Amino acid sequence: MTTSIADLERIALGHWRPSTCEPLDTWVLRAHHGFTGRANSALALGIPGATPAVAAPGRVPSSSPDSALDPGLDQVREPALTRALDRVGAFYARRGLPARIAVPVPADCPAPVAGPPSTMPAEALAHLPEPEDAGEQLRLRYLLDRAGWLPTAGTSAFTMTLAPGNPGDCDLPPGYGLRGTPTPSPARVDAHRHLGAPVPPAGRALMVSAPRQHFLTVTAADGATAAVARASLSGGWVGITAVEVLRGHRRQGLARALLTAITVWALAAGARRLFLQTTLDNTPSHRLYLSSGFRVHHRYDYLSPS
Ligand SMILES: CC(C)(COP(=O)(O)OP(=O)(O)OC[C@H]1O[C@@H](n2cnc3c(N)ncnc32)[C@H](O)[C@@H]1OP(=O)(O)O)[C@@H](O)C(=O)NCCC(=O)NCCS
Repeated sequence: MTTSIADLERIALGHWRPSTCEPLDTWVLRAHHGFTGRANSALALGIPGATPAVAAPGRVPSSSPDSALDPGLDQVREPALTRALDRVGAFYARRGLPARIAVPVPADCPAPVAGPPSTMPAEALAHLPEPEDAGEQLRLRYLLDRAGWLPTAGTSAFTMTLAPGNPGDCDLPPGYGLRGTPTPSPARVDAHRHLGAPVPPAGRALMVSAPRQHFLTVTAADGATAAVARASLSGGWVGITAVEVLRGHRRQGLARALLTAITVWALAAGARRLFLQTTLDNTPSHRLYLSSGFRVHHRYDYLSPS
């Protein structure tokens, strides 16, 4: 069975849960002291408004957006969307944060919806399953474009279902060691320097916001941290976040070893479904995950008012 975009996004929310999560119709307003885009953006699932969501119409043909988007229906929903956008603006202004909406869409979201550039190899987008709500999310994305909310960045969401059995050996280069702990040490938190900056105190709370997590640390022969990753368990899924191999230790198979260790942990926890998210422009991580068996599920774009 295909997992819908909305279902996977709701699952992901249980793995990286901001301190403030406020419902807005079918959307969620998220804030966590400005730490990470995901935790400080409105998660936009469906089109706000009293009109029930239409049955997923499939992909919007790029040639005639207006006719395909059923303008009559959208006229009914646009006032509700405008009110929702006003509330998004006020919510973030109150917190001194930029207004930002994360809009999940099909990974190959076509024209006329402008998207951030993707470096994803074309073959990665082939044979994509069509989540049932792909059409509704595409319609929302189009309406937001029309309302002047434009893309600033994008993220790919990947999934993988593990086969039962032995996931294989966790091979580390000579001299390296790997350990897993249920809570992050201060050194572990510091190793994940979000966007190059030190992790603020609020960052630690986000890293332990799932019902259960497993922090993996690879140490070099001199005891220094070489690589880290966080696995979390919620809703029967294992989420992978905060993967970082420190410069000077890359291209030796450490990330691959971390993924194998997470697979072992997932199977021991009885979970076979894995997901993760990585920015569209991160070619090394796309290659890593595609070559490790993950497949693209959808992408989400961050939109800000123009
Ligand atoms: C992406 C990252 C985690 C890879 O770590 P790594 O330990 O160097 O990766 P590995 O040595 O295990 O490589 C495994 C595979 O990933 C891919 N890969 C890794 N680095 C790559 C690069 N710079 N360019 C292209 N492919 C790359 C390759 O397919 C590689 O397999 P190969 O060596 O057989 O070709 C590391 O570059 C990193 O920490 N980057 C910054 C943080 C980040 O982007 N984290 C991921 C966010 S989800």
